[in-house]
Amino acid sequence: PSPTAISLLEKTYPTDATTNVTSAIAQKLSRNLYLQPAHPLGILRALIESHFPTFTALSGWSPLVTPAKNFDDLGFPPDHPGRALSDSYYVNRELMLRTHTSAHEVEVFARGERRWLLSADVYRRDEIDASHYPVFHQMEGARVFPASAAGVAELEDNNARLSAHLAQSNIVIEDVPHLSTTNPAQPSHDAHHAGLVALNLKLSLNSLMLALFGGRTGAGEEPLRVRWIEAYFPFTSPSYEVEVFFHGKWLEILGCGVVQQRTLDVANVPNNVSWAFGLGLERIAMILFSIPDIRLFWSEDPRFLSQFTPGQITTFKPYSKYPSCYKDVSFWVPSEGLHDNDVFDLVRDVVGDLAEDVKLIDNFTHPKTNRTSRCYRINYRSMDRSLSNEETNSLHVDVVSRLKDVFRVEIR
Ligand code: PHE
Repeated sequence: PSPTAISLLEKTYPTDATTNVTSAIAQKLSRNLYLQPAHPLGILRALIESHFPTFTALSGWSPLVTPAKNFDDLGFPPDHPGRALSDSYYVNRELMLRTHTSAHEVEVFARGERRWLLSADVYRRDEIDASHYPVFHQMEGARVFPASAAGVAELEDNNARLSAHLAQSNIVIEDVPHLSTTNPAQPSHDAHHAGLVALNLKLSLNSLMLALFGGRTGAGEEPLRVRWIEAYFPFTSPSYEVEVFFHGKWLEILGCGVVQQRTLDVANVPNNVSWAFGLGLERIAMILFSIPDIRLFWSEDPRFLSQFTPGQITTFKPYSKYPSCYKDVSFWVPSEGLHDNDVFDLVRDVVGDLAEDVKLIDNFTHPKTNRTSRCYRINYRSMDRSLSNEETNSLHVDVVSRLKDVFRVEIR
């Protein structure tokens, strides 16, 4: 029988048919990795905050939000896939774990903040591998300008200053037009004004990319390459994504755009325009500190934690890679179906971070009975020690028995 209540951050909430927060996830809510001054996520947060010295740095906001804050207020359509139980964590119908820091845009604008950064843990149901973890961290940033002649003057002045700085720097930018038919200004915006806001956003973020990655691309005189791409978000227009060329690859760093007037209206800040961005801290920290596996951020091993110093970007030295051991589980899927993410969350709930990755390696439907069989391969590896054979076996036995109990699968 499912429990009727769930306890999160020392408070109790009623559960319902939508409840899908596992205890593995519940345990993460109080970790606050991004607030630890000597943790790579905390170091990176502080570094970005120091790049925007005139911005208010906000943190410590509860991850429990209403679906209205996370989705509706930001203009997500009712059928947006992000709302699905298979993609997001719900405490109950009325409360969920935020999937992005944009969930706080309305509140922060409503407080009258005009230049702000907000860092927080965010939650998404996802696959299990070296770069995916169901909890990660984002930083949202925004800057508001008055929709007036004074606002235009402020923009022109700030844009000139930032352009002059970038012109002297070793950076190559592949740009897209500020506005296009597929990435338009909002109907209530003057196109010239929207263009100035978009330019300010681009210059501000190019300068951040330079501060974070400049001079770190390896080859001494090589310029930093930053690429702007047209994007779509329900809560910004125009919208962009930013990529940085690092170690021979383009890496997606952040999403951003000119804030939809709806957001500022709901926040009761009329006659203003704003830009906003949201960046993933793990993505950037993995690159800057050379951290090879996203699970390491959650390690409490002193061999990990003692390597980092506040204010410094240093290269992580792997202390050891312990052997891995994979085990397969094959079963017939129950007639009502079974989502991959349900399997992944169950594995995490049973074995925690001892699962390095989980892959679907076989999937077929029997032509006569029409039943579907799947085989998942679970790769077990600890980052801190060697797992014994018995231990791995018993972990796997637990996973198999939970799969049977929870989803009524028939093991093959
Ligand atoms: N919230 C978006 C995401 O998580 C990023 C974003 C933030 C985009 C702010 C535009 C403006 O992908």
